[in-house]
Amino acid sequence: MYFNQLIYEDPDTNKKIKLLTSIHHIVTKNSKCASENTTFNDNILSQGVAVNTKLAGDCFTDFQRTFAFMKGTYLCVKEKIDQGIQPVNILYVGTGPYLTIILPLLFLLHPGMITITTLEINENSYSRSKQLIKKLKKENYFKSVLLTNALCFKTTDRFDLIISETMDKALTREPQVAIFAHLINLLKPQGHLIPESININLVASSINLEKNVAYNCYTDTRTKEFNDQHRQFIDNILKADKSFFQQINTASQKIWLKTVSTSQIKPGLNELLLLTEVVIFNTIRLIEDESWLTKKYTCYSFTEQSRGKPHNAFYLNTQTPRIKLIPII
Ligand SMILES: C[S@@+](CC[C@H](N)C(=O)[O-])C[C@H]1O[C@@H](n2cnc3c(N)ncnc32)[C@H](O)[C@@H]1O
Repeated sequence: MYFNQLIYEDPDTNKKIKLLTSIHHIVTKNSKCASENTTFNDNILSQGVAVNTKLAGDCFTDFQRTFAFMKGTYLCVKEKIDQGIQPVNILYVGTGPYLTIILPLLFLLHPGMITITTLEINENSYSRSKQLIKKLKKENYFKSVLLTNALCFKTTDRFDLIISETMDKALTREPQVAIFAHLINLLKPQGHLIPESININLVASSINLEKNVAYNCYTDTRTKEFNDQHRQFIDNILKADKSFFQQINTASQKIWLKTVSTSQIKPGLNELLLLTEVVIFNTIRLIEDESWLTKKYTCYSFTEQSRGKPHNAFYLNTQTPRIKLIPII
């Protein structure tokens, strides 16, 4: 199914899109369920939104994202196998309808090398992913395929890898932080999270100077270059990696991140933006405008009173998760 070329042949962007489009065609065809509900609803959770089947499926066509997650995951699993771990015990949270991120594992590895548990909260996405496993005849790679909310999931099992792409730009809207904070204790001491880290930088800018990318941004390299000319870096505000998730108190809705200084910001830069970098594994990462997950997010406009003052940055782990800046006046 094209995965050898995709993972091993270092295809250019056009070739990647072509290969992924062919794979997309196969998974959409093979995940159709006769019995499914045709209305697509989001699931509203205590700490974010689990996106509906249509949106979860559409993520596949965020091509650089899909490629980076597929390749990073495959390389991470391969590293574990090369270290002598077999089977690599994998937990995949939020499969969507197509089990997108783990597809290469099912075609490039033998069933004895890995064992997979999946969690999905959305009934339609769950039914489609089950149908896909059956149609592709890949049942022997899976230990359990569960329809459940990851935020309530409990098991005595321990995993070499926990994979989840349940995020939006700047860790807004979707429950990635809550999910990893809840599941981190299920990771073996040498285990890996995929993505490995989500890094968020704060920069000052002006909406009057900024250019915006098109919706399908992944082939645009010029806009970032243009915007970088007038932006001013302020601080790295969050590095959401294994040690961050280990420290989070899951009961807390407001997590203090740091105090940032805004006293050196150049005149005319009245807005603060959050820029996301997703480190999937090692050198495989997504930076601004390479995917929908890494588009800029405008989080703050200065007022006369707040300009130049220090600000406390918090992560709100609530129904509308996001980073919030509060001036210390
Ligand atoms: C953005 S989609 C990604 C789908 C697929 N993994 C991919 O990368 O293309 C996120 C998926 O996670 C599921 N999800 C979100 N929160 C969840 C939770 N608390 N428990 C289980 N599944 C969840 C959603 O229903 C959705 O199918």
